[in-house]
Amino acid sequence: MSANPEIFRIEPWQMSFGERAALEGILAQVKPRLAVEIGTAEGGSLSRIAAHSEEVHSIDLVRCPAPQPEHVELHVGDSRRLLPELLERFASEGRVVDFVLVDGDHAREGVRQDLIDLLASPAISATVIVMHDTLNGLVRAGITDVDFASNPAVAFVELDFVGGYMARTGPFAGQLWGGLGVAVVDADTERRPGIYNDYLHDAYGMIRELGGSPTGAADGGRSPALLGRVLDRWRH
Ligand SMILES: C[S@@+](CC[C@H](N)C(=O)[O-])C[C@H]1O[C@@H](n2cnc3c(N)ncnc32)[C@H](O)[C@@H]1O
Repeated sequence: MSANPEIFRIEPWQMSFGERAALEGILAQVKPRLAVEIGTAEGGSLSRIAAHSEEVHSIDLVRCPAPQPEHVELHVGDSRRLLPELLERFASEGRVVDFVLVDGDHAREGVRQDLIDLLASPAISATVIVMHDTLNGLVRAGITDVDFASNPAVAFVELDFVGGYMARTGPFAGQLWGGLGVAVVDADTERRPGIYNDYLHDAYGMIRELGGSPTGAADGGRSPALLGRVLDRWRH
């Protein structure tokens, strides 16, 4: 056992430690034969997907400079073109993708399109889809633009599987980032009555409301009165 396991090494994996641990846990359970990543960047999350998978395809606009093992194929270009091509190839071969990480385009329309392409493909029929940065407003809007509910193969959607955060300092101060969401596509899995995890309050709505105030969470949450008022409203 290592005293400093890979999930605690900061670079180049662009995820919080909790997100890394959750991703590792999902991968350890799914043990993908075939995995797809959208958003390679410097290969941080890819290295852990590769460690648990038999074959991985990772898409990015720019080529990751890190050398990759033989079972990893990098696809360089826009996911709007490359993802449908890749999925069509898998579908024509009768293959099913077991795991997908959606962490590429963070624009609303880009996130929406990646998810629409995934859900439309026969290759995504027994698949765990993990989405990163679900607490970011644009990413979240792109995800909620997708009508998961009318797709009978979608068994479960949870946008706050791991909570995101608001940066306190630095170039992203005051902005909401991070968070992992999960969608399980499997026609054979018993569908939850409400496929969105609706027994919880919407963390995004609550945090946004707090962060929107100059005396709220954005400056370290120094206003207990405001916090109390917002939480009171959300409780009812
Ligand atoms: C947040 S980074 C991915 C981080 C990586 N998954 C990790 O955790 O280490 C997002 C990546 O998506 C890529 N990207 C952005 N828009 C894209 C698009 N339309 N198609 C493919 N890749 C895209 C960017 O070039 C960037 O490298």
